[in-house]
Amino acid sequence: MTSTDNHIRIFDTTLRDGEQSPGATMTLEEKIQIAELLDDMGIDIIEAGFPIASNGDFEAVSMIAERSKNSVIAGLARAIPEDIERAGQAVKKANRGRIHTFVSTSPIHLQHQMKKTEDEVLEIIKKTVTQARNLIDDVEWSGMDATRTSVDFLCKCCEVAIKYGATTINIPDTVGYAIPREFHNLIKTLKEKVSGADEIIFSTHCHNDLGLAVANSLAGVEAGARQIECTINGLGERAGNAALEEVVMAINTRSDALPFGTKVDTKKILRASKLVSAITSFPVQYNKAIVGKNAFAHESGIHQDGMLKNSQTYEIMSPESIGLKESSLVMGKHSGRHAFREKLADLGYVLGNNAFQDAFERFKALADKKKNVYDEDIMALVDDEIASSTDRLKFNSLIVHAGTEGPQSAELVIDVDGKLVKKKSTGDGPVDAIFNCIKAIFPHQASLPLYQVQAVTEGTDAQAEVSVKLEDNGVSTTGRSADTDTLVASARAYLNALNKLLIVKERNA
Ligand code: KIV
Ligand code: ZN
Repeated sequence: MTSTDNHIRIFDTTLRDGEQSPGATMTLEEKIQIAELLDDMGIDIIEAGFPIASNGDFEAVSMIAERSKNSVIAGLARAIPEDIERAGQAVKKANRGRIHTFVSTSPIHLQHQMKKTEDEVLEIIKKTVTQARNLIDDVEWSGMDATRTSVDFLCKCCEVAIKYGATTINIPDTVGYAIPREFHNLIKTLKEKVSGADEIIFSTHCHNDLGLAVANSLAGVEAGARQIECTINGLGERAGNAALEEVVMAINTRSDALPFGTKVDTKKILRASKLVSAITSFPVQYNKAIVGKNAFAHESGIHQDGMLKNSQTYEIMSPESIGLKESSLVMGKHSGRHAFREKLADLGYVLGNNAFQDAFERFKALADKKKNVYDEDIMALVDDEIASSTDRLKFNSLIVHAGTEGPQSAELVIDVDGKLVKKKSTGDGPVDAIFNCIKAIFPHQASLPLYQVQAVTEGTDAQAEVSVKLEDNGVSTTGRSADTDTLVASARAYLNALNKLLIVKERNA
């Protein structure tokens, strides 16, 4: 494959590197839902997980593989025979599967983490790539911490990986250290010096510690890389990975300067961003490029004036191109099932019968309380439903005593594994009282490092979107929920985070 091929393969690792962000744990159903959307929107390769990490991870990768349509499904493996075997099993039901195996190459990793010599690493690459290639035709090899590795040694590693069957060579900037010029030169040098380079695809995998992940990825592409590894909303270890929406829209918008193309249906970008944000409870920063709430908002008079005359005065891409439509009044309490289903389809949701029924009932309840129901309300409501569909602990009802005449108290009923349990507690304010009820019903040790509330839309009858982060023994999870009643949303969000914590603990057990 040569750099005359201008198709850039988009490799999404939201479900693997993204899930490695502290607090971004996803359930099996949530991962499947994200994978289906990614497949649908034309993502070339979906890294579905790290199959050796746990039975839950293995199950997620194999179920995503089994349901995959067009995307290649990749499973990650360390340079260890058991990892590679497990990754091979997990992706085997995919129409097109890939084993992605990696080993550290930098002196700092070799000396302190791996305690191996360069020759030993070359031998490991030979053995593990051979093993992977005996299991599957599509093998990706990554040199971890490649940007802090000597170029000569990295060239040797790539050569061995290619010789023994790797079809994609990934160059991770694992610690987000590179600057665009360096990263460009690195890919260019590898393409020139590595024998066999013309037969494979070079890939970028840039972390965002210096805020350069997207710039480095594009610099890599200009130097001849033809795959970009990235995540929705830039989720990922520490400061995250290159944001998928940013690399795709940069390539789309600046085709004059970047003569490349992707297969991504950009109209599904906003939907993917919202889904990942809802599932992980990681909010999207208001001024985030492409998908932030303000990315297409024009506040100053001069900008508004220009926009009214010609949108191109201040807009380099259209809101529609990422799937952003005018916020529209949806329906009221008289809207029926059919209209609701159509609206969901319009917003990009396809729900099974039970999930649809639950969402419809919540919509009706919302329409009873709230005069104007907007698209954002529907999305918050359905995302909430998706986030809680497999929970062990489900919210049932809540009565709260709040205000200046204390003590503030709450009476909460939760469905615990199918059985209703009621508890009354007091607290330092109503939210504290609710959380004390949950602790009384389901005792646990987790601490609460974050409790956050924001409005979904404008107006005093707006839904409150609450995010709750829980931490227990080094594991953290985030839950979210939206409701016109902030206290109900708080209870649901806490339960959502707690349910995720239970899943992670079970997975790690
Ligand atoms: O950042 C990194 O080096 C990785 C590898 C596993 C590809 O995520
Ligand atoms: Zn990474």
